[in-house]
Amino acid sequence: MARLTLPAVLGVLLAVHTATSTKLVCHMTNWAQYRPASGKFTADNIDPFICTHVVYALATINNFNQLIPTEWNDEEQYKMLNSLRDINPALRTLLSVGGSVNGISPFIAMVSKPESRAVFIKSAISFLRKHNFDGLNLAWEFPGQMGSMPTDKAKFSELIAELDQAFLEEARDTRKTQLLLTANVAAFESTVTGAYDVPKIAPHLDFINVMTYDYHGHWESQTGHNSPLFSSNVDSGTHLQHNINSSISHWLSLGAPAEKLLLGFSTYGRTFRLSSSSSFLGAPADGAGDAGPYTRTAGFWSFYEVCSFINGATVEWIAEQEVPYATNSVVWAGYDNKQSFTAKVQWMNSRNLGGAHVWTLDMDDFSGSFCSEGRYPLVNHLRNAMGFPPKPTTTPRPTTTKDPLTSFCSGRPDGLYENVADKTTYLQCFNGITYLHRCQPGLIYYDSCKCCNWP
Ligand SMILES: *[C@@H]1O[C@H](CO)[C@@H](O)[C@H](O)[C@H]1NC(C)=O
Repeated sequence: MARLTLPAVLGVLLAVHTATSTKLVCHMTNWAQYRPASGKFTADNIDPFICTHVVYALATINNFNQLIPTEWNDEEQYKMLNSLRDINPALRTLLSVGGSVNGISPFIAMVSKPESRAVFIKSAISFLRKHNFDGLNLAWEFPGQMGSMPTDKAKFSELIAELDQAFLEEARDTRKTQLLLTANVAAFESTVTGAYDVPKIAPHLDFINVMTYDYHGHWESQTGHNSPLFSSNVDSGTHLQHNINSSISHWLSLGAPAEKLLLGFSTYGRTFRLSSSSSFLGAPADGAGDAGPYTRTAGFWSFYEVCSFINGATVEWIAEQEVPYATNSVVWAGYDNKQSFTAKVQWMNSRNLGGAHVWTLDMDDFSGSFCSEGRYPLVNHLRNAMGFPPKPTTTPRPTTTKDPLTSFCSGRPDGLYENVADKTTYLQCFNGITYLHRCQPGLIYYDSCKCCNWP
């Protein structure tokens, strides 16, 4: 952000006088394409007007310290994403770099020496320009953790300062608009302390996405909410800090400028298996709720999977934390809905934060086929709550249709079944509902192993 041009100065003045929450930054993931049937998401499912920025997760760093894609079709999806700007020229796109190999972040080796950082920076600029992105998002989870040494905190600061300088010089030399530089950062105080020198990194970043979710989950022995706004009466000790208000207050106290901090909004919930007849906040739990049929991860449901669950469940509101949960006596799910998004936007505005970031577009009901509230009910609501003007009307894209074989599973036990009509796909029955899955390209389904394999 080392821009010293007149438009930048005017921009700052303007920002003081207008609403502060001006950014709505939405993440998409390149693994959402592997979700079955109506859960399958690719960049062409994005509404070009829904967010101000879209962040494509995830790219990584190879052994030669170069920025590289992670999926076989990333380049195709980069094209889909970046062509959305033909429809909405104001949209900005960023590529997120992070992940881990065998639990080790590729940032660790890359930041270790000035030479390896220089290789990365050079490769990042040419990769971003080649694929037409507007910027880079650093998603290192986290400096100082998971095999990273405490000294990596200073190395991360150096990387960020060097990237900023290189982006500035590249823009000057090529007369292009300077690439944006952003980071996804931790919310927990103890992690933040070990990972970031806030006064050193904040001046160089265009915005900072605080990951204000994953506060509670099935790894704990009592129910707790994924993304509460405030602490609750069942919190004690460090758990008193496991909420949005504490995390953002901490970032502000470390000197982060409010207008650069973006509040994280989750389009997913976290679930627990209840271990007694109690189902309130803080009730005993002994594990994760079952995996959802689309996200296929125990203890974790996308918003559209929550939508299916709450039909037969009791929905409660945690007044002191301003978030909902749903329970059916066996499962407890803490998630976000329109009401909690509104509460968070009001709080965000009261702190004059720069806006919101969403994890992720692909876990909202992007097709509108699950929740009967139209496409992207949560993110559209967030837009409205933040006071964005109505979107221009565009011709609606065809929404994903429900699976044709809807009655296949009625009366059948849960499990996987052959699809005789198309062996590159197979059927899953879950609670009487039929889901169509597709094998990876080149593979077909074998009922003998209940798996996809080479023909
Ligand atoms: C929000 O956080 C601040 C700073 O930690 C604290 O003083 C305040 O009591 C919190 N507000 C609520 C409602 O918990």
